[in-house]
Amino acid sequence: MKKRFIYLDNASVTKVDSRVLRAMNIYHTKYYSVPTVEYGHSFGLKSRKALEQAREAIAESINANKDEIIFTSGQTESNNLAIKGFVAMNNTARVITTKIEHESILNVCKDYGNVAYLDVDREGFIKFNSLKRLQEEGAILSIQHANHEIGTVQNIKRIGRFCRKAGITFHVDATQTFMKLDIDVERMNIDLLTISPHLIHGPRGIGALYIRKGVKIKAILSGGYNEFGIRPGLENIPAIVGFRKAVEIFDKKDVSRMFKLRDRLMKNLLEIDNTKLNGPLGKDRLCNNVNISFRYVEGESMLLHLDLRGIIVTTGSSCFSTALKPSHVILGIGGRHEDAHSSVRFSLSKYNDVEDIDYTIKNVNEVVSELRKISM
Ligand SMILES: Cc1ncc(COP(=O)(O)O)c(C=O)c1O
Repeated sequence: MKKRFIYLDNASVTKVDSRVLRAMNIYHTKYYSVPTVEYGHSFGLKSRKALEQAREAIAESINANKDEIIFTSGQTESNNLAIKGFVAMNNTARVITTKIEHESILNVCKDYGNVAYLDVDREGFIKFNSLKRLQEEGAILSIQHANHEIGTVQNIKRIGRFCRKAGITFHVDATQTFMKLDIDVERMNIDLLTISPHLIHGPRGIGALYIRKGVKIKAILSGGYNEFGIRPGLENIPAIVGFRKAVEIFDKKDVSRMFKLRDRLMKNLLEIDNTKLNGPLGKDRLCNNVNISFRYVEGESMLLHLDLRGIIVTTGSSCFSTALKPSHVILGIGGRHEDAHSSVRFSLSKYNDVEDIDYTIKNVNEVVSELRKISM
């Protein structure tokens, strides 16, 4: 097999689709004005129109109203705005979350202090009884739609129904699932939703927070009055246009293709001795996520050896890999330190094909046996 370049880190960031780039470019070079309102110059009206049309299209994709969408600089900011903005308005509110969230939630919670953590099972699903036990009227519950490392998809509809009845504000971080799974903020009783286009071949540096009408959120940045006074700063119009384009060109057929490739990769890698799947099987696992611990092999060594063969993967959480700490997600689902250290995440995109998967299977087999010869 000839050496190929295979990018399997699509849970961190994806390649931008050329149609998205084309749509964005015109707002860098031709209609580059600030988006003006009625008292501003006429040049800015094109930008204003692009901004409002994007807001409408993105709102529609999650069954929201256009004035419920606030553009931010990305998923970390949206998560910060959701939690900090909520507790700034309700400053004794308890935050309920899990220990397997992304750091952009966990570290905000750590700083705040008044936090309760739900139990999760060995596949990463929330134990509903712990939610019943920890519920408190006026609290905010923040959970991911799907876990960034192990792909566990939570039952948002059931949890949302419970929160609505219990008087709990419900925040969902849908960074990993946006467009890949159906999200309907009405049907799912979601009050706050973090979304971004960077995992669906849109630009990075742009995101949004859906804020249900009536939910009070305080701005966490000081500045002008953009985005309904909730998020100051010049709107990133080219990125917002790219966000809209990524939503419009999203094709559900790619999700079915990714499911098939995911299962082919998973099945074949689990045939290697002493491997363990992290996260669940089936439809409650994200369509593009495979996470496996390869006993007696360091995840970092796997990453480097696969890189030499042209395959890009991550170990633990990509956002964490520089810290070389064991994955808090794998430890959080009751995994052993060895499982955490030997875990590798393969995350697929619409640009992967069956040849990529077969090349990866062959090379992972070779690398694992080479590394085990040294370590065992
Ligand atoms: C579920 C989830 N939320 C939030 C983030 C934060 O993303 P970033 O650090 O790119 O802003 C990530 C990143 O991988 C994520 O997977």
